[in-house]
Amino acid sequence: MTRLQIWSLELGHNRTMTKVAVVTGSNKGIGLAIVRALCKQFEGDVFITARNTGRGEDAVKTLNSEGLQPKFQQLDINDLSSITQAAAFFKATYGGVDILVNNAGIAFKVADTTPFEVQAEVTLETNFFATRDMLTHFMPLMNPGGRVVNVSSFVGSRTLNKCSTDLQARFRSEDITEDELVGLMKRFVEKVKAGQHKEDGWPETAYGVSKTGLTTLSMILARRLSKERPHDNILLNACCPGWVRTDMAGDKAPKSPDEGAITPVYLALLPPGASQPHGCFVSDKEVQPW
Ligand SMILES: NC(=O)c1ccc[n+]([C@@H]2O[C@H](COP(=O)([O-])OP(=O)(O)OC[C@H]3O[C@@H](n4cnc5c(N)ncnc54)[C@H](OP(=O)(O)O)[C@@H]3O)[C@@H](O)[C@H]2O)c1
Repeated sequence: MTRLQIWSLELGHNRTMTKVAVVTGSNKGIGLAIVRALCKQFEGDVFITARNTGRGEDAVKTLNSEGLQPKFQQLDINDLSSITQAAAFFKATYGGVDILVNNAGIAFKVADTTPFEVQAEVTLETNFFATRDMLTHFMPLMNPGGRVVNVSSFVGSRTLNKCSTDLQARFRSEDITEDELVGLMKRFVEKVKAGQHKEDGWPETAYGVSKTGLTTLSMILARRLSKERPHDNILLNACCPGWVRTDMAGDKAPKSPDEGAITPVYLALLPPGASQPHGCFVSDKEVQPW
């Protein structure tokens, strides 16, 4: 037991003061590599979370075999009750969360013949709406000095540049609200279903639009943090891990998962007292234009 934990007990708190890091979708790929790096570099408990308990527990064993001791919590970001149960667990056990990495994501393969309207709905449901649900329920748990990292993609920036000038202006504006952004993401899905997304100014990529939305959401939430919790020094950023060899991206990508974890982990471990980056899109540890 650490001295902090003993003090906590002496003060009559029944919960630990150990710090905690939570990584979504971390049973494999970049998420697992982020947990590996945090186990080595973060002073606190690090949680693998996965929608499937068996896959999550196997991932814990993989890191155990490397001499690392991650913990496990079931967390399916598409299931609101799973999100609220996990949030309640971290609140009760740790009193809050110190690092949250929203890494879970999906992408249809290029060769997949699933109709585009289905791809649009399913992709946005996980990458944008479910990640937003995570943020809605976990942001209130973030401790002072906390770090939030949303794993987005360069594809989101490229997609932004292919949107109509009106859409680009809204995504880049300082006054876009979360409600307006949610409306735009819903509008994309509706216009795809109606076969009208091109006339409406959207490019032909559901994954890209979902990541444009996630990066924009990160900027909105960072601005809100600065306004509503100005003294809590919580830093929130979106990032691209690079093109990484995983089940999602295939074996031709240049980066290993451990290399893909470098930028998310850099953002998760921004030192106490740092004030930047915040509300940025970061790749290779550098703030990128948006
Ligand atoms: N690989 C790249 O080149 C690349 C480039 C840019 C951005 N990214 C982003 O990096 C993140 C990780 O991608 P990756 O390449 O590591 O992909 P991956 O190997 O396919 O891993 C994705 C992870 O997300 C999990 N996941 C999917 N839906 C989930 C849900 N509803 N709830 C909880 N977990 C869920 C998966 O769990 P299951 O095992 O249960 O499916 C898996 O653990 C994604 O957000 C992706 O968009 C990747």
